Amino acid sequence: MLHPVSSEVYFTFNNGNKVPAFGLGTAAPHQKLAETKQAVKAAVKAGYRHIDTAWAYGVEEYVGEALQELFEEGVVKREDLHVTTKVWHTMWSDANKSLNESLHRLKLDYVDLLLQHWPLCTQKIPDPHGVDNIAKEPVDDQGKPLYDENGDWIETYKQIERIYLDPEDTRVRAIGVSNYPIEYLMRVLKECRTVPACNQVELHPRLPQRELREFCNEHKIIVTAYSPLGGNGAPLLDLPILKELSEKYDASPNDILTSFHIRQGTIVIPRSLNPTRIASNLEFVPLSAEDVRRLNEYGETNKKRFINGPVSSIIPGFREDFLMEQHS
Ligand SMILES: NC(=O)c1ccc[n+]([C@@H]2O[C@H](COP(=O)([O-])OP(=O)(O)OC[C@H]3O[C@@H](n4cnc5c(N)ncnc54)[C@H](OP(=O)(O)O)[C@@H]3O)[C@@H](O)[C@H]2O)c1
Repeated sequence: MLHPVSSEVYFTFNNGNKVPAFGLGTAAPHQKLAETKQAVKAAVKAGYRHIDTAWAYGVEEYVGEALQELFEEGVVKREDLHVTTKVWHTMWSDANKSLNESLHRLKLDYVDLLLQHWPLCTQKIPDPHGVDNIAKEPVDDQGKPLYDENGDWIETYKQIERIYLDPEDTRVRAIGVSNYPIEYLMRVLKECRTVPACNQVELHPRLPQRELREFCNEHKIIVTAYSPLGGNGAPLLDLPILKELSEKYDASPNDILTSFHIRQGTIVIPRSLNPTRIASNLEFVPLSAEDVRRLNEYGETNKKRFINGPVSSIIPGFREDFLMEQHS
């Protein structure tokens, strides 16, 4: 039986907009930011139609150059691409400025999705290694996070919502959040008019987040799985259960990890800077419901959150996982 490749699968946001279920992540290691340009070009040429980026990745300029060249070469039209960007927590009080900077660097008039990157408000601390010379994860000499005492994390979503709801403003086609636990989503549903189109969270067989996925499903919030391979070095590719499923489906562990999400109605955004991998990471594997269940169950007893640190550990869920890591 023939199946579409992952880049041909589309989902629909709660505002009716279509979104490709499979995208390229662009959070490259600091010393490899410029390689992102070739990665984006290779991805779009291989059929990807969804690029996930963020102000905080420091790569928007390279993504923008790649897109400009792809448009000029006639490889793709702007309207056939989905581009997501995000507002970082040091910019929590000025989503408008963050969006304008992102659009300028991306050389775009609009983004398809604007997310609040983290439900946090942190101080702007100078750091020559940071993005725009601002520390990404501001901490003091003792490693204590420097939150902005005047901040309320929901304020950023409210600002993003104002941009989205302004009929004169065409810069954003859909809005959402990232790294939101259930209790934070509940507050948004109570205090805001716009249900987020998406909640982008860490998701994979070692962190299946069943309750969060069920909550989002119930409220028509599409979940996007970040770090689907476990982040740098793709540690999840070595999971023993993947070896068995690779043999069963005659598919690569990478394709199993990404198809696992698409099969459940979750968007997935793996990252690679390697053009050969980018082009070969696209196969959709028609996993059985039983194998999807087994992959979800794996994390119940082998839980690991890869993306966490002192700054994010204030968020429910992250806090418990952070403490567990500190004591293990
Ligand atoms: N919202 C958030 O807070 C948040 C947080 C983290 C990530 N994200 C988004 O999610 C995206 C993906 O997550 P991630 O960047 O953490 O990591 P990831 O996609 O889980 O893994 C990336 C790693 O996998 C390797 N890789 C990719 N394909 C491979 C293959 N076929 N075989 C072997 N290795 C392979 C890459 O190396 P090569 O480059 O050498 O191929 C890279 O080291 C990010 O880029 C970003 O867009 C969002």
